[in-house]
Amino acid sequence: MKTLQHSTLRVKELEARIEGMHTSLICAFNQLLDLKDLNTGFHSTRLAEWGVRVARDLGVGRECLRDVEMAALLHDIGKMGIPDSVLKSPARLTDQQWALMKKHPEYGWAIVRLFPEFERASLFVLHHHEHIDGAGYPAGLAGTEIPIGARIVAVIDAFDAMTSNRPYRQGLPFEEAIRRLVLARGTQFDPSVVDCFIRIASEEQAGVFAATGTGVAVAV
Ligand SMILES: [Fe+2]
Ligand SMILES: [Fe+2]
Repeated sequence: MKTLQHSTLRVKELEARIEGMHTSLICAFNQLLDLKDLNTGFHSTRLAEWGVRVARDLGVGRECLRDVEMAALLHDIGKMGIPDSVLKSPARLTDQQWALMKKHPEYGWAIVRLFPEFERASLFVLHHHEHIDGAGYPAGLAGTEIPIGARIVAVIDAFDAMTSNRPYRQGLPFEEAIRRLVLARGTQFDPSVVDCFIRIASEEQAGVFAATGTGVAVAV
């Protein structure tokens, strides 16, 4: 009996160590990407928090939550393979540069799939630029062909990109970014993910406004 208890404890300890190693590796990858493109690391951390909240609200299974978190953190890791002249170009990308940029989900998939137990997360990374109407890339998947984690990352990635400041432009106001999400609901984005995210983001925004006392409610 004692031996069984000891073995169970040992297994739990090993599982916790593996989990810890995964987390450290992911943080290290995230830092690497941060070194290459300063905005990306913070962006990924915000996405991971939102991604888990949206996934939980949508009733995604518990074992999938971690995959959503991983995919949100590492969704743009493939940008490591994109030349700086393209990644940091202040000008509009040429067709050739854009074709290179569109390779980042496949590069990211090729990296993330090497992590043991992250096959599903790697597919979320691969498909995070698909559109619900099939007009996205790299595979042109549509509707529920796109894995749920990828549909979630697509919405929160777009929102965070729209509202973040860049060296060459000011981020959009919250209400305008929400308006654009709603416009693309059902074409670019999964409607249920958009609705869920807007609920969460609006609550968060209301909290910020309540704290600062400057708020206006967002009509969605
Ligand atoms: Fe991306
Ligand atoms: Fe992103």
